[in-house]
Amino acid sequence: MADLDDIRDGNNYGVGVAQKNEGFFLKGSNHLDWGMKDRLSRIFNPATGKAVMLAFDHGFIMGPTSGVERIDLSIVPLIEYADCLMCARGVLRSLVPPTCRKPVCLRSDAGTSILTELNHNVVIDIQDAVKLNASAIAVMVAIGDRGAEAETVANLYQAVDAGQASGIPVMGVTAVGKDMARDARYFGLASRVCAENGANIVKTYYTEGFEKVVACCPVPIVIAGGKKLPEREALELAYNAIQSGAAGVDMGRNVFQSEKPAAMIQAVSAVVHQGLKPAEALQMFNDL
Ligand code: R5P
Repeated sequence: MADLDDIRDGNNYGVGVAQKNEGFFLKGSNHLDWGMKDRLSRIFNPATGKAVMLAFDHGFIMGPTSGVERIDLSIVPLIEYADCLMCARGVLRSLVPPTCRKPVCLRSDAGTSILTELNHNVVIDIQDAVKLNASAIAVMVAIGDRGAEAETVANLYQAVDAGQASGIPVMGVTAVGKDMARDARYFGLASRVCAENGANIVKTYYTEGFEKVVACCPVPIVIAGGKKLPEREALELAYNAIQSGAAGVDMGRNVFQSEKPAAMIQAVSAVVHQGLKPAEALQMFNDL
C-alpha cells in the first residue's frame, strides 16, 4: 500500500516564474519528437551546433581501401576524437568497441559495390538499427542518375518512415556519379530533394556557392571530405564549409589516409567547433 498518511504538500511551485520553453538548437528540427532530438543532440554538440562525424563506411562499397584495411588499427584509435561514427553494421559489430560511448550514424543501405556502380540498393531493417542503438541511419540518394534515382529516393522515403516510427533520424547521402554535375546548383537540388523527402540531416559535398546550398536546405548539412587532399587543403575545405553554414563534416579519407590521422581529426575538430582558421589548424596539426 502507498503511504497515504505522510504525503507532504509541495510548497515550491515557482509561481510567477515562467517555465522555460526553449527552441531546439538545430535548424529545421524544432518540431521533432523527444527521441529524435535526443539522438541529434548526441551527434551534434548542443554547445556549438556542430559535429565531426568520422566516416569509415567506405569498405561496404570499396572493400579494403587505403586506411580501412584494419579498422582496429587505423580507426579505433581515432574514435575518441570524433563526435559520431559513421559505418556499416558489419564493421560496427565486429570491430567497434561497444564501450566507446559514441553515437553511431549507421550506413543503412546496401546492394552495390564499386564494381557494379549505383544500382538496386535496399534499406536494412530498422529493427537492426534499433538493436545497434543507432543515433541516425544514413541512406544514399542518387539524384540525377537515371538508373538509380527513383529507387534510391524510394529507399530514403522508406527509411524516413521507419526512422520516424522508431525516433531515429535519417541522413540523406547525396551521391556523386560519373555523369552528375558537381556544382552548387546540383548539390542544392540534391540536398533539397533529400530534405523534402524527410531527411533530418543531409550529407553532401562542398563546392563554390555552398552558402546557397545551405540556405535552401531546411535541415543541417554536413560535408563529406572526398578524395584525399593535402592537409592544408582539407582544412580549408572544412573551414570554408563551416563558414558557409555547414553544421559539420562527415569526413573519412582526409582523416584516415593522412600521415597523422589523430592530429588531423583534432585539427578538423578545432575548425568545426572553434572556428580555427586553416593556417591555425595546420599549425595545430603540425604541433600535434
Ligand atoms: C560516401 O557515401 C561514403 O559513405 C563516405 O562516408 C563519405 O564519402 C565520406 O567519406 P570521405 O570523406 O572519404 O568522402
